[in-house]
Amino acid sequence: MYKINDNYLKLPEGYIFSTIAKQVASFKEKNPDKKVIHLGIGDITQPLAQNIINTLHEAVDEMSHIETFKGYGPEFGYEFLRDAIVKGDYKSRGIDISVEEIFVSDGINSDAGNIQEIFSVDNKIAVCDPVYPVYIDTNAMAGRTGNYNRITKRWSDVIYLPCTPDNDFVPELPKERPDIIYLCLPNNPTGSTLTKEQLQLWVDYANRIEAVIIYDAAYEAYISEDNIPHSIYECEGSKNCAIELKSFSKSAGFTGVRLGYTVVPKALKCGSVSLNALWARRHGTKYNGAPYIIQRAGAAVYSKEGREEIKKQVNYYMNNARLILKGLKLAGYSAYGGVNAPYIWWKIPKNITSWEFFYYLLENANIVGTPGIGFGPQGEGYFRLTAFGTYENTLDAMERIKKL
Ligand code: MLT
Repeated sequence: MYKINDNYLKLPEGYIFSTIAKQVASFKEKNPDKKVIHLGIGDITQPLAQNIINTLHEAVDEMSHIETFKGYGPEFGYEFLRDAIVKGDYKSRGIDISVEEIFVSDGINSDAGNIQEIFSVDNKIAVCDPVYPVYIDTNAMAGRTGNYNRITKRWSDVIYLPCTPDNDFVPELPKERPDIIYLCLPNNPTGSTLTKEQLQLWVDYANRIEAVIIYDAAYEAYISEDNIPHSIYECEGSKNCAIELKSFSKSAGFTGVRLGYTVVPKALKCGSVSLNALWARRHGTKYNGAPYIIQRAGAAVYSKEGREEIKKQVNYYMNNARLILKGLKLAGYSAYGGVNAPYIWWKIPKNITSWEFFYYLLENANIVGTPGIGFGPQGEGYFRLTAFGTYENTLDAMERIKKL
């Protein structure tokens, strides 16, 4: 008889955001009269910017004419988009990244999950705790994380890097040596960041111990403070040790249209093997390229008008972040993040678990958030709110929380 990949059986039940969606659907069914405010999954609420919409319309029209119609596109992305990315996200910051180092995809979620495929199953991963669950889950599916302890909520073969208020959410270099290090900065879920000097320590460490860093920069557009790197390639030596994942979802409102890219520098080598070549081989075989019309929309993000419009959207969400942070603090809670990231990490009262708090908030204030434990053991005692709601709903949510 055939066998399944039984690594899947080791996974904790349900992906956090699917579990939440089910709970919320059930609550709404039982309480159809209640107005539920969603501050759970980080999904945007503002429509695509007008310049992007116009470009989408143009691209759709091109698909209806024999002269301009497009079939399969180049596997790593259209040159016009890769070129716009290089100029807009790297050259503009003085970073030397070439078009051949950019791989366009249907979003960061796929890339964050797939990138582990080019590494041996024997590698040991290190993750921040709390952490975006996709990194661990996809490594668990590949059989790289040992066994899951349902009581401690820890995997036996994962190196956890605690990020708590005690260390200002800055992960410390681990005692045990990792092979693959996942860093998400600005961080999901805590909203924290590292300064350039702090990130440089990680780059130097990875080069010293010959580890690779998978750097998730999905929230880079939300950085408001100086001396916070927008790309890991701002650090010296990083092209020898780091892969960067980027998304259009949060920076330009593409959660519903899907677009992202991965940077694999040519200098990144495991012995004599080029990781750029490995990823190209994988991408070329398993992926036929993001849709032309979406890549056109992606390129529009880098136009002058596009940039202005999406900056306004980022400001809109960050205004919500300020509102939440201020509101929680005025209500007497400790809360973190929300300055360089659209997430607020809320310290909840000690006598309640984060899942209990989830139900409490849903039932008493009709607000959906994300229980901290969904992001790892150090997430217990915390609750994540997203700033991606509408301004009106965010305002309303803070009034409801004040009254609790
Ligand atoms: C989140 O809420 O953490 C993210 O939006 C989920 C995702 O990007 O898949």
